[in-house]
Amino acid sequence: MPRLKTAVMMSGRGTNMQALIDSCAAADAPAEIALVVSNVPNAPGLERAIAADIPTLTIDHRNFPDRESFERRLIEDLTTEGIELVCLAGFMRLLTEVFVEHWRDRLINIHPSLLPAYKGLDTHARVLADGVRFTGCTVHYVRPAMDDGPIIVQAAVPVHAGDDVDRLAERVLAAEHRCYPLALRLIAEGRVSLVEGCVVIEGAVSPVDMLVNPIK
Ligand code: GAR
Repeated sequence: MPRLKTAVMMSGRGTNMQALIDSCAAADAPAEIALVVSNVPNAPGLERAIAADIPTLTIDHRNFPDRESFERRLIEDLTTEGIELVCLAGFMRLLTEVFVEHWRDRLINIHPSLLPAYKGLDTHARVLADGVRFTGCTVHYVRPAMDDGPIIVQAAVPVHAGDDVDRLAERVLAAEHRCYPLALRLIAEGRVSLVEGCVVIEGAVSPVDMLVNPIK
C-alpha cells in the first residue's frame, strides 16, 4: 500500500510534529511525513525535522505583500511535492479560505482544548480562570472559521487542584502527542469519513466509563 504523503506545517518547537514523525517511523505506518513547512525562519522544530532526515521548507510570511499571496505559494509548494494531507501542528498563522478551501477535508489541526470550548489563544489560562474540571485536546478538520471543523479525535484531561498554566499545558501536551498520531493513522488507513458534517470512524471503539473529577 502506498503511504499517505503528509506535510506538517508548524511555527515553533514542533513537539507535535515530532510525535507525528515518530509514529510514521514504523515500517508498516500508513502515512509518511514527506515535508515540514515553517513560516518562521529558524523555528526550533526545523532542527527536529532535519535530524529525522525530512525535507524542510521555510516560507516566511513577512516576505509576501498579503495573506493570499503567501497562501498561494504554500499551495504551490505543497502541490509540487505531491502532498495529500496537511497537518497543522502549532502553525501560528491564521489561514484564509484561499488555503483552507483548497485543502478541504485534506487539512487537519490540533488544538489544546476540548473544542468547541476554548477556541483561540491562551486556552489553559482561561480554563484555570473558569475552574472547569476537564480540558483536553482536539484533532479536527479545518474550516475557514478559527478552530472550527469536524472533530476526529479528542482526549479529556483532568484539571488538578493547584495546577498552573505550565503544569496543565504539559499534561495536555502529552495527550496531544497521543491524539495526533492516532488521527493521522485513522485517516491514512482510510477509516475516516464525513457524514452530514461529522466524522465517522470505521471500527471506532469508545471508552465505556464516565470520568468524574474530583474522585473523592
Ligand atoms: C500545541 O499545544 C498545539 O495544540 C497548539 O500549539 C502548540 C504547539 O506545540 N496549537 C494551537 O494553539 C493552535 N490553535 P508544538 O510546537 O510543541 O507542537
